[in-house]
Amino acid sequence: MLTNRQIFLQFLSQTSPTPLMLEIVRAEGIFMIGPDGTKYMDLISGVSVSNVGHCHPQVVKAIKEQADKYLHLMVYGEIIQSPQVKYAERLIGLLPPELNSCYFVNSGSEAVEGAMKLAKRFTGRSRIFSFNNSYHGSTQGALSVQGSELYRNSFRPLLPDVFQLDFNDVHSLNRIDKNTACVIVEPVQAEAGIIMPENNFLSELKSKCRATGALLIFDEIQTGFGRTGSLFALNKFNVVPDILLLAKALGGGMPLGAFISSTEIMNSLVSNPVLGHITTFGGHPVCCAAGLASLDIIINENLVESCSSKSAVFKSELKHPLIAEIRGEGLLLAVKLKKPGYIKYVISHAPDYGLILDYFLFCNDAFRIAPPLTISYGEISLACTQLIKLLDDAMNNERE
Ligand SMILES: Cc1ncc(COP(=O)(O)O)c(C=O)c1O
Repeated sequence: MLTNRQIFLQFLSQTSPTPLMLEIVRAEGIFMIGPDGTKYMDLISGVSVSNVGHCHPQVVKAIKEQADKYLHLMVYGEIIQSPQVKYAERLIGLLPPELNSCYFVNSGSEAVEGAMKLAKRFTGRSRIFSFNNSYHGSTQGALSVQGSELYRNSFRPLLPDVFQLDFNDVHSLNRIDKNTACVIVEPVQAEAGIIMPENNFLSELKSKCRATGALLIFDEIQTGFGRTGSLFALNKFNVVPDILLLAKALGGGMPLGAFISSTEIMNSLVSNPVLGHITTFGGHPVCCAAGLASLDIIINENLVESCSSKSAVFKSELKHPLIAEIRGEGLLLAVKLKKPGYIKYVISHAPDYGLILDYFLFCNDAFRIAPPLTISYGEISLACTQLIKLLDDAMNNERE
């Protein structure tokens, strides 16, 4: 009989030559647990998903209760489903008034696809700008706006009339013009290695979009739901986009995405043609029930408020000669090492120290720390102690 490990390698398609290859049988709070009972502290939240930790009892209860009532009923937008409407109402109540119409999909990439279609349809224009080193997903439209030529190049032809600007470079914003349908931006660039917007970059971007009639799309798929120390990054930077994209933590551990805009903009998908965007499973009732329960936990347990002080503990306790810098805000951190050569060693040996870490797609000299927001102060201290031992190990092994 084949082991799960063998089946994983033989029958599951792989796109990474070096998968983590940990077998997990259970997950609870900030821990994933292996078949022999070994506990691994999840310091990445699978990436920025498990903001309320794994299998939070309230989320599991909401899933079970909804599963007892109904699963899939009908394609999106036809039947009034209580988890969907309750979640949309709750989300919109927490957002600026301009963002008052929510379209649920299944994933982040789908939210990106829907938003780009919406912007093209509303403006009647085709040009799209994104930013170098941005990540917006792997479908062809999302890939077209990905900020890495290495990833785009092998899959051409992609969407035409798409161009990249430089994040934090106000001068590059002059390329946004009256042919531009939209500009898509991560308010904090995540896969670039946690790059914060500088000065008034996001408000300058918003002004440029206003002046040219281009729609501004914020991809908050990673930054949403408290991750950077405010409920959404748009609150932190006080810039309201025309379209907001959510996924990852939106579903509380279940697959869910959304693009959210004004009713006026969103209505352009209703006619000419009708059904301008269709999804079978988008806004699945079980996922919406889980997402709503997760959002309630984030609000009721004040997880957003504690995020910044938890971040400060990581920054003050994580001191080591190999660390060049800890970037980021809230619990979306990049630990930059003095030599990129250590990164692979550190990430691949993290499980030996009871930790799960991860790479960034477009930053080879840093690893990610983005634990569940429910992590306790004691658990952060433990994580830092283990990380320091791991870094000592890496240093002693002199990986260059
Ligand atoms: C900022 C951002 N946008 C979009 C996506 C794509 O989301 P999904 O993997 O759910 O399609 C990701 C995924 O990592 C992301 O980090």
